[in-house]
Amino acid sequence: MPLFSSEQERRYRLLLGDEFEEFQKACERPLPTVMRCNTLKANPKEVFPMIEEDGFEVTPLEWYPYAARVSGPLNNLGNTIPHFGGLFYLQEEASLLPVMILKPEPKELILDIASAPGSKATQAAQHMDNKGVIVANDVSGERLKALSYHIERMGILNITITQMDGRRFGRLTPNTFHKVIADCPCSGEGTIRKDSRASQDPSPKARKRLTETQKALLVSAYKAAIPGGLILYSTCTLAPEENEGVVSYLLENYKCSTIPVELPGFSARQGIERWEEQRFHPMVKNALRIYPHLNDTGGFFLSLIRKEG
Ligand SMILES: C[S@@+](CC[C@H](N)C(=O)[O-])C[C@H]1O[C@@H](n2cnc3c(N)ncnc32)[C@H](O)[C@@H]1O
Repeated sequence: MPLFSSEQERRYRLLLGDEFEEFQKACERPLPTVMRCNTLKANPKEVFPMIEEDGFEVTPLEWYPYAARVSGPLNNLGNTIPHFGGLFYLQEEASLLPVMILKPEPKELILDIASAPGSKATQAAQHMDNKGVIVANDVSGERLKALSYHIERMGILNITITQMDGRRFGRLTPNTFHKVIADCPCSGEGTIRKDSRASQDPSPKARKRLTETQKALLVSAYKAAIPGGLILYSTCTLAPEENEGVVSYLLENYKCSTIPVELPGFSARQGIERWEEQRFHPMVKNALRIYPHLNDTGGFFLSLIRKEG
């Protein structure tokens, strides 16, 4: 069976031009396993050798000091004692970017509006050295159970969990949070190396429903941020409607701007200003598109936004 449907291939060819073949080859390869060391419990110099002792090969990432690619004959890292003991978290490499870019600091009040199972919330906790407060919200109780497990296992003290529709935060807690993570539900095209079902197109109706939820969550994140606060919008899809289309909607309707982001040692493409019949706000070009062939990761999109005071 071909990896992409004909519609998906048409869209990717339009998006990637000459890079399409390279992109397709990368999507066919399995995704490297990546672990992030939990510096609340131990440092990479202690954790990486422990994993090597369990028979895995560990290659530290050059661009992020706490994480490494791991491979081994038995890729069952989640069943090792260091994992049960909370010394690391298994996290897709590109998904490390939002927190690295948002730079949450101790003493800040952070909202993670769609947080489960907690890759970014637990990463933020370690960047904040277990200080300040992170409100980690999700609408799904099942997924929040996984987050609770990670919080306990990793010795995290500064996360409080809420279970509600994230679209309500803007009204309930306006102008409150220094920084907001809006890692939104999406069509998941960027996860194709982990799950080939991600190559299936959502129907136009399903895509519309998704973009409406994404816009509402991003507006809620915007309203919940303090004036001058930062919002990090991200998805693990490559669809422009769910990415630049959503950020463009915020830029056109609310007082905010996007911020250019530097990623030393990591390749990315700029956000696109046009897609089929649509023209987006010019500031979407500050967003980053991460394609699997650029760094041998999953696909990802992110945009750093400042709420104007
Ligand atoms: C991409 S996943 C989040 C991954 C998470 N940020 C992490 O880093 O582990 C999107 C999440 O959005 C949640 N979600 C969907 N609709 C929501 C809503 N209206 N309010 C809050 N969360 C929602 C889903 O349950 C799902 O856990």
